Amino acid sequence: MGRASQAATKNTLSSFDPQAKALLAQMTLDEKLGQMTQPDKLYLQSPDDVANYSLGSVLSGGDSDPKTGNDLISWTDMYDEYQSRALRSRLHIPLLYGVDAVHGHNNVIGATVFPHNVGLGCTRNAELIQQVARITSEEVRATGINWAFSPCVTVPQDIRWGRTYEGYSQDPDIVKVLGEAMVKGLQRESLADPLAVAACAKHYIGDGGTTYGSAKTGLDQGNTEVDEATLRRIHLPGYITTVNAGVATVMPSYSSWNGVHCSGSKKLLTDLLKNELGFEGFLISDYAAINEMPGTYKQQIETSINAGMDMVMVPDKWMEYINLLRQLVQENAVPMSRIDDAVLRILRVKCAMGLTPGGPSPLADRSLHRSFGSMEHRAVARDCVRQSLVLLKNENKVLPLLKGAAHIHVAGEAADNIGNQCGGWTITWQGRSGEDTLGTTILTGIRAAAGPATKVTYSEDGSGGKGAKIGIAVVGETPYAEMFGDRSELRLKSQALGTIARMKADGMQVVLVLISGRPLVIDDVLGYVDAVVAAWLPGSEGAGVADVLFGAHKPGGKLGYSWPKESTTDFRIGSPGYHTLFEVGYGLSY
Ligand code: GLC
Repeated sequence: MGRASQAATKNTLSSFDPQAKALLAQMTLDEKLGQMTQPDKLYLQSPDDVANYSLGSVLSGGDSDPKTGNDLISWTDMYDEYQSRALRSRLHIPLLYGVDAVHGHNNVIGATVFPHNVGLGCTRNAELIQQVARITSEEVRATGINWAFSPCVTVPQDIRWGRTYEGYSQDPDIVKVLGEAMVKGLQRESLADPLAVAACAKHYIGDGGTTYGSAKTGLDQGNTEVDEATLRRIHLPGYITTVNAGVATVMPSYSSWNGVHCSGSKKLLTDLLKNELGFEGFLISDYAAINEMPGTYKQQIETSINAGMDMVMVPDKWMEYINLLRQLVQENAVPMSRIDDAVLRILRVKCAMGLTPGGPSPLADRSLHRSFGSMEHRAVARDCVRQSLVLLKNENKVLPLLKGAAHIHVAGEAADNIGNQCGGWTITWQGRSGEDTLGTTILTGIRAAAGPATKVTYSEDGSGGKGAKIGIAVVGETPYAEMFGDRSELRLKSQALGTIARMKADGMQVVLVLISGRPLVIDDVLGYVDAVVAAWLPGSEGAGVADVLFGAHKPGGKLGYSWPKESTTDFRIGSPGYHTLFEVGYGLSY
């Protein structure tokens, strides 16, 4: 197998330099600049742009879907169309095609959708996460796509942030282990593996540590105001382990560190990540993130590329980006050595993946369609759900529920709603309530687990359950992503309180199941319900929730985030205004 058989660990990528340098030596300036450009496919005038500009990469950002729909064939055909154009470029260098496969290949209807990281973090199970990543890479490669913008190794310090659920935990020691496992699963033992995808550790650095009020929506893309020791202690560990695991790409954060945009910080991108940590892959900017920096577009490009950015997720003004970067090189404002270093890093990854002229066909292997969304894959996702649930309260031994109970009433907006249980980054960028993709709702799982002898009734508002001794209220948050999930407070919605009240009024013992991207303030119902289960955003396999409720699997999940009391006035971890209801690591069992 030669070099390609080497495990993807630190300093593996530079072993491809002889091959990468030989390719680099053949390239014109414009071909080099093309490799440093990643448009969103939405903004290509024609697929031929890929060959005409020797583009290094194309992405499908949130909602950048095939014109023919979000099904497996449409995604595969779309990828093949762009990749086949890349093979027509002068040097025939294949594309890296990037998507946000952040909890399975979540863009595609019928994919196995895993719990979001907020739930996976509660499993503390690195082996399971690696299995999740291997299945994810297989389903991503089924569409031909070869680059996943995952894992998010953020360490959120304020759960009012809309991206809390993309993080495994507020504890860097949990994040560093699970992030490493995700990289090893996605990239497999070798990036040359036809089932491997390039991974992307993100968002570097301190994306989850911004100060509340430092961003338009509160926290997202704000300013992380901490000293260097704190930045290293909390926000760096996930990059140390993923770089050592050979992660192919890292995505700088939109956010700033002490007022300096991460996308333009030489200290962070070059001095710390590349020189001190020895990162040998390449940096991909976030979506139009360099445009958030001060100055004109040309100045933004100059600052970011000279700081160490290697490829820019432009995503729209990509021709202008190429023209301006060419000017900067011709004016020597961006030295040719920086261009060559950036392109060498990109070519290292492509050589490691066999994405080279005359290499193995980079077109989709459609035989993988057989296992896409398979029962085997879904069984693993269901086990993830079981292991992610955290039992916060269980009084009067209401749990586990008895099979064959006479009558169970199920209620709540999230009980029979795939979209709610999957959350954001599912089919669409923001996700959406309703029949968003294929899978099993929590209600369907309860009906199956209860058995034919049990009368299982359902109403969204909790009414109509008279006679049932047990009520299960499945409530929480509706889908959101990024800044749209920033909140100023985290109470349960009034209709959820009404649902619970109706069930209590009908004499039921109530089991509260929370579907949310983060802990929610539950003081006003905690004393009122008999059991509470944090189910997070479980994904497509809602039956895993029933497995725990009926005792087929004993709950073992441990909180990755501390749970705030109602009296909390400042949700930032460690602030005097933060009052803890449950600590990180809390979780009951049967
Ligand atoms: C988004 C996110 C990033 C994602 C990228 C491409 O804005 O910040 O996590 O990978 O753009 O969709």
